[in-house]
Amino acid sequence: MLRSFRKIRFWLQAERIGPDMPLTHLLLFSKRAGHWLARKKLKVCEAGAEIRPHAYLVETKHISLGKNVVVRPGCKLFAVADSQGRGQIILDENVLVGSDVHIYVSNHTFGDPDQDIIYQGHDTPSSVHIKRGAWIGAGAIILPGVTVGRNAVVGAGSVVTRDVADNSVVVGSPAREVRRCTSGRDPSASNPPGAISA
Ligand SMILES: CC(C)(COP(=O)(O)OP(=O)(O)OC[C@H]1O[C@@H](n2cnc3c(N)ncnc32)[C@H](O)[C@@H]1OP(=O)(O)O)[C@@H](O)C(=O)NCCC(=O)NCCS
Repeated sequence: MLRSFRKIRFWLQAERIGPDMPLTHLLLFSKRAGHWLARKKLKVCEAGAEIRPHAYLVETKHISLGKNVVVRPGCKLFAVADSQGRGQIILDENVLVGSDVHIYVSNHTFGDPDQDIIYQGHDTPSSVHIKRGAWIGAGAIILPGVTVGRNAVVGAGSVVTRDVADNSVVVGSPAREVRRCTSGRDPSASNPPGAISA
């Protein structure tokens, strides 16, 4: 009995959400309970932000979800608790995230050829920031230190190793720019329909 109570308390308090934390996983099946959990565990969880079942988030106190951001099934957001705030994952307002998107903020250290990598520790983490309105296609992988610009598009299955400029479309592994979107409209307009130019 006491063990079960401790386990439930652990699931509610630990900075993780996902299938290996059964209670947190179950709560995600209810939109309202899931939002409550996300507000409790994440650094920031704005109105309309949602985490769907089968997403997996680690070091949740270093993850911020802006307004309307939905973290879909199969996504893995692995932040790092770093005292200087270098391991954050920040998804701004209206970022679209496809299913199975992975975001990482740290690398294993591997420079010593004589020591197993498991014993070499980690490099300094480097935050990932996805700016407002960007779209990350399904199955994309965003690597440590990357900033994806405003309204940029990352193609499905891409591996993003470098920053992505505002309004650009990047695809492949490593992700390369294939086009940029321009509107030619007043940027202060509320929802300008963008025209795509190659
Ligand atoms: C990125 C994307 C939006 C680009 O669409 P588009 O502007 O119509 O681009 P095009 O189809 O004209 O492709 C341009 C080039 O990039 C390549 N390309 C497009 N998407 C690619 C991808 N995901 N990975 C690798 N290459 C890709 C095309 O083959 C083409 O190359 P080519 O010029 O050598 O023929 C689209 O391909 C994509 O990946 N969508 C994601 C879908 C998704 O994840 N949906 C989940 C719902 S959230």
